[in-house]
Amino acid sequence: MIENNLPELDREELHRRLPEIRKIEDNELREQVIDVFLQHCPSYFWRCPASSSGNHHPEDTRGRHGLWLHTKRAFQAFEDLARTEIEMGRIEEDELDYGRAAILLHDLFKQGLPPRDDHHTRSDHDRVAAEFLGRETELPDEVLGLVDSHNGAWNRGKTPETELERLHHRADYIVSRENCFYEIPDPCEELQQVVSERKTEEEHDILGRISALNTAVEASNLVDEFNLQGQGKVNPEQLEKVVSYAVNGGENQK
Ligand SMILES: [Fe+2]
Ligand SMILES: [Fe+2]
Repeated sequence: MIENNLPELDREELHRRLPEIRKIEDNELREQVIDVFLQHCPSYFWRCPASSSGNHHPEDTRGRHGLWLHTKRAFQAFEDLARTEIEMGRIEEDELDYGRAAILLHDLFKQGLPPRDDHHTRSDHDRVAAEFLGRETELPDEVLGLVDSHNGAWNRGKTPETELERLHHRADYIVSRENCFYEIPDPCEELQQVVSERKTEEEHDILGRISALNTAVEASNLVDEFNLQGQGKVNPEQLEKVVSYAVNGGENQK
C-alpha cells in the first residue's frame, strides 16, 4: 500500500526513513526493531502530527510527518544526552542499544492500535505500546520498561525508575517542548521539506500583524455597516484608536 505518496514500506525503505535503526549495534535487537516496524507499524505513524491537540511540540511536528520527525529528534537527543550520562558513570555503554530501540518505538501507537476509530493521541499510548510489544514480540524487558515509562510521571505508564529510563524520558520530553527544534542529521526528502517550511520568528511576527490587520479591517467594516444602518454612530477618533491598537498587535501607541 502506498501511504500518501510514500514508497511502499519494505526493509530498504524503512532504512531510508529511519537510518537511525542502523545505530542499534546488537544484531538481534536491531532485527527485532526492523520486524516490529515492518509487521506492526500503523501507517498513520509516518503521516500524523506529533500532537493531535495542536498543543505542545515544536511547530514543525504539529503537521504532516510530525510524529516521524519527533521520533528522529528524540533519537538524536537520546544519543547526545547518553554521552554525558556514560561519562558520568550513570549508565553503561551496553545499555545504549535498549534506549535506541525504545526511543524508535516509544510512540509507535500514539493514536492507538489499528484499526482505531479516531485520530487523536491516546493518553495511554505508553502502556498500549508496552503491552502490545510485550505480547507480540520478543523484545527485552528493558526495552518494554523504557516504552512504558517514556511519559515520566504523566499518563498511564510507570514512572521511570532506572537511570536509563529517566534519560529516555528526558530525551522524549526535551524534544516535545514547543521551542525545541533539535537538529537531525540527514533528514530524508519528505522531512527536509517539513523542516524547510518552518516559519522564522520574523515571519511569525509578520503573520501576527497581518492577522491583527484583518481583525482591524473587519472591525472597521462592522462599524461602517452599523453606521450605514443608521443604528448608531461611532466616534471616528475612538475607531482610529481601536484600529491602531489591533494593527499593532494589542499595543497602544503613544
Ligand atoms: Fe509519547
Ligand atoms: Fe514522544
